[in-house]
Amino acid sequence: MALHIEKIEKSKISEVDFNNLKFGQVFTDHMFECDYENGEWQTPKIRPYQALSFDPSAKVFHYGQAVFEGMKAYKDDNDDVWLFRPDQNQERINKSAERLDMPPFPKDYFFEGLTTLIKMDSDWVQKGADNSLYIRPFVISTENCVSASSSNKYKFMIICSPVQAYYAGEVRVVFADKYSRAANGGVGYAKAAGNYAASFYPAKLAAKEGYQQVLWTDAANHEFLEEAGTMNVFFRVNDTLLTAPTSDRILDGVTRKSIIQFAEDKGIKVEVRPVRVTEIIEAAKKGELKEMFGAGTAAVISPILGFAHKGEKFELPKIDDSYASFIKKSITDIQRNKAEDKFGWRFQVK
Ligand code: COI
Repeated sequence: MALHIEKIEKSKISEVDFNNLKFGQVFTDHMFECDYENGEWQTPKIRPYQALSFDPSAKVFHYGQAVFEGMKAYKDDNDDVWLFRPDQNQERINKSAERLDMPPFPKDYFFEGLTTLIKMDSDWVQKGADNSLYIRPFVISTENCVSASSSNKYKFMIICSPVQAYYAGEVRVVFADKYSRAANGGVGYAKAAGNYAASFYPAKLAAKEGYQQVLWTDAANHEFLEEAGTMNVFFRVNDTLLTAPTSDRILDGVTRKSIIQFAEDKGIKVEVRPVRVTEIIEAAKKGELKEMFGAGTAAVISPILGFAHKGEKFELPKIDDSYASFIKKSITDIQRNKAEDKFGWRFQVK
């Protein structure tokens, strides 16, 4: 595969304060891009990170035909760089693309582009427990035409951003009882840009009440707890972990599936089944709801300290033997090459 490479003249890395990063605001020196035209993906390129220029009629601006992924690279004490289950992201971006009627991006282009880009910008992968390089592959429709139909031109890109924690403070959620994120037969399972755009207004209303996230419920009756948009969600009732099954409304999160496999391997009882709003409220009232946490690439594993439902507020108890802390430490140790990788999840960038 031919990969065209154009390097920057001078890195901007010395301008970056790696101890004070706000999530997703700083980008590395290079970016990967590949255009789809005349029914095929053209020669992929790595170029200096820069602004792009589009015609105002480009379809992505009008119809939101856009999908993305979130991945992270980690640097260990020997300066080796690791990815976590990148095959899952490569497969998922094409599942998302298929749902939005976009062409699949070839696996060999994805891996060649990803690994070459990370090697070129490897100084931007900082060591240390809270540091990682967030990787954002995405595809947008670029045909210049405002008719409401699929595009015949696309752009696939990968950009990278050094990050620390996604949630800097405490996380509390409000259970959705009016707005919905996804419906049966819709695009909820895809990482489609519009899923996120649609959540911003309800999220703003929740933030005004002091909640960092909306925990989405099923669109039909708001009876079952589904996911939080930026993360899947787990509930610990007594010593059992509960999480909703994936469906066409719920993202098949890589962190989510890794937690399920890891927890089961450690003998923790995991139930993957529809989780009723009422059972979580009952469990909270009886003191049986020990923990709630979100799981995602950006969010890692984020404890949820409380929730609200129709104006009723609940705080979770402080807990010594937290599953969230144990699982987070264990999985991040695997990601950072500090622990045995018995599931074969780590992928070295070399
Ligand atoms: C990720 O965890 O990578 C995501 O895509 C969530 C994002 C909206 C920050």
